[in-house]
Amino acid sequence: MSDVWGERADAYRASATHASDADLDIVVEMCNPHAGVKALDVATGGGHVARRLRDQGAEVVTTDASPGMKPDVVCRAEDLPFADGSFDVVVTRIAAHHFDDIGRAMGELARVSNRVVVVEDTEYTSEEVEQAERLRDPTHVHSYSEEEWRTLVESAGLELERVERFRKTHDFDDWLARCNCTGADAERVRELLAPWTSDDGATWSDTKLILEARKSQS
Ligand SMILES: C[S@@+](CC[C@H](N)C(=O)[O-])C[C@H]1O[C@@H](n2cnc3c(N)ncnc32)[C@H](O)[C@@H]1O
Repeated sequence: MSDVWGERADAYRASATHASDADLDIVVEMCNPHAGVKALDVATGGGHVARRLRDQGAEVVTTDASPGMKPDVVCRAEDLPFADGSFDVVVTRIAAHHFDDIGRAMGELARVSNRVVVVEDTEYTSEEVEQAERLRDPTHVHSYSEEEWRTLVESAGLELERVERFRKTHDFDDWLARCNCTGADAERVRELLAPWTSDDGATWSDTKLILEARKSQS
């Protein structure tokens, strides 16, 4: 993989929609971090989940496919180099839509957890939104519906315990700039996202699904 993400690392570390927002609070609550909890943050990006879990006493290992994100371990979510059940909590936030093989990645998240898997990702809206996402960022693979997530979670041997939704508002200029999307591409992205754009054109919004799943006992 070329390190396109490494070039974006500072933008993602600074991104307000990644560093804060109530969706991050929900993810942290689902992870239930405290001293003695071993957590794995997969596709950590700017490290916002890891930081919050560490603040609450958890011992956290970070992974990311991009060396430029400076994770503890550089690896793909599809190939986690950890033994079965190594972590109490395995979490991945706003990254699964980049995974080439989501089924394999979910299998890996479930395998290395001994208790809980928490996933936050963008909910599938429409083919227009998918087209806009790919035009803005060619590393976008696919967003999934709640039904598709239910199948992915169950196929990985997990039981879905809780689903939350969070409406996330993106500053349009910042969102395009993070992926260096400019000119005609940016104009087309704005056209495609018009139904989800504010009247003044300054923001658009999508929905994040936040899932808490547990290792099946059987
Ligand atoms: C939007 S950022 C993640 C945001 C971060 N988790 C947060 O909460 O702010 C997406 C990250 O996914 C990583 N990534 C993309 N494909 C991956 C894969 N197959 N396995 C692991 N990481 C991947 C990228 O390198 C990037 O750092």
